[in-house]
Amino acid sequence: MSAIWHPFTQHGLGEPIPLVERAEGATLHTADGRRVIDGISSWWVTTHGHNHPRIMAAIRDQTERLDQVIFAGWTHQPAETVAQGLRALMPPELTRVFFSDSGSTCVEVALKMALGFHAHTGTRRSNIIVMEHSYHGDTIGTMSVGERGVFNAAYAPMLFDVDTIPFPIADGDNTLSALTALCRDTHPAALIVEPLVLGAGGMLFYSADILRQMADICRAHDVLFIADEVMTGWGRTGTLLACEQAGVVPDILCLAKGLTGGSMPLAVTMASEAIYAAHLSTDRTKTFFHSSSFTANPIACAAAAANIAIWQDEPVRARIAALAARQAAMAERLGTLPGAANPRACGTIAAIDVIAPDGGYLSRLGPRLLAHFRQADVLLRPLGNTIYVLPPYCLDETDHARIEAVIGNALAD
Ligand SMILES: Cc1ncc(COP(=O)(O)O)c(C=O)c1O
Repeated sequence: MSAIWHPFTQHGLGEPIPLVERAEGATLHTADGRRVIDGISSWWVTTHGHNHPRIMAAIRDQTERLDQVIFAGWTHQPAETVAQGLRALMPPELTRVFFSDSGSTCVEVALKMALGFHAHTGTRRSNIIVMEHSYHGDTIGTMSVGERGVFNAAYAPMLFDVDTIPFPIADGDNTLSALTALCRDTHPAALIVEPLVLGAGGMLFYSADILRQMADICRAHDVLFIADEVMTGWGRTGTLLACEQAGVVPDILCLAKGLTGGSMPLAVTMASEAIYAAHLSTDRTKTFFHSSSFTANPIACAAAAANIAIWQDEPVRARIAALAARQAAMAERLGTLPGAANPRACGTIAAIDVIAPDGGYLSRLGPRLLAHFRQADVLLRPLGNTIYVLPPYCLDETDHARIEAVIGNALAD
């Protein structure tokens, strides 16, 4: 029996845990000889496909030169190349790149930057505004700014207080008026949002227009706007960044998952010059006090540099557009089947809800759906009664049709 304690896994249910030996494109190969279609990009990380030859070659090449070096006061070429590449690809207003190693850590960094900005500029604002149903990670800070519920109920005593705006309904007036009131009355430090799509909260979508209006309200009240594009970035919603669709440039941008094409753990928090300038001083107490041992690991940075090069010189956007069209058509077809509700698609993300007496993450349908998909050799991991498909951009039509058929069978069941 394995000694491993797996994440988000209730071992008491005794569910089988397949052993994956290798992968390519949208396919995983297990030790017992099964070929499994990865319908969720291995937790939303794999963008171009597993074991992408250019990314793997860059990793191999880097292992010949430099494995790891302290990043406090030292640098290396792969990190410099990533920073230059990000400056070329991302909005020009985001002039500074701070490395970390996961989606959670780049959000923690964003929150610390926001509070650091307000501490060092003397405004001393510290409240954070968050959106209902958000998910930003599983560290203490990121749980604090996420939806309070089953994921973190046991740890509630450790979490700090935040102000919550409701998830937008219709034209978003409920959200916008709550945000305006909080900005006006409480002088918060920052708003943090998942732009356009709330992922772990149930693949909930809201419009670019609402996103733009939220950013405008923050700007008008000197409230920093933090975009957590850990899930939505790198093309997931159809554009490189989801914020792009709203014409919004955040003050602070969080990127992880697809930063290395999903091959290595690496993250960045990009900040405007004003945020950086607030920390820039001969006064050492204003240093940005954040680090982890493997900050900007050279091998992970080499993978990120290769990912950025792929974005710069391959037709990634065209691949995304083609997949997005197929995803939208699939959602529409699935939505017509008995038992399905609320079909939706945003870029390369498609989702439906399964009508169930008990909705939400702990819906009893969840484990049944999971077992159905596992048996059918398709990696899908429903969020309770919400089935979503979020594949690598290289998923071909045959495998896409297979995913649709397997979901159709689940609904028929
Ligand atoms: C929007 C968002 N932010 C942050 C995170 C946390 O990322 P990680 O799991 O790499 O810590 C996730 C993970 O799914 C996410 O979806």
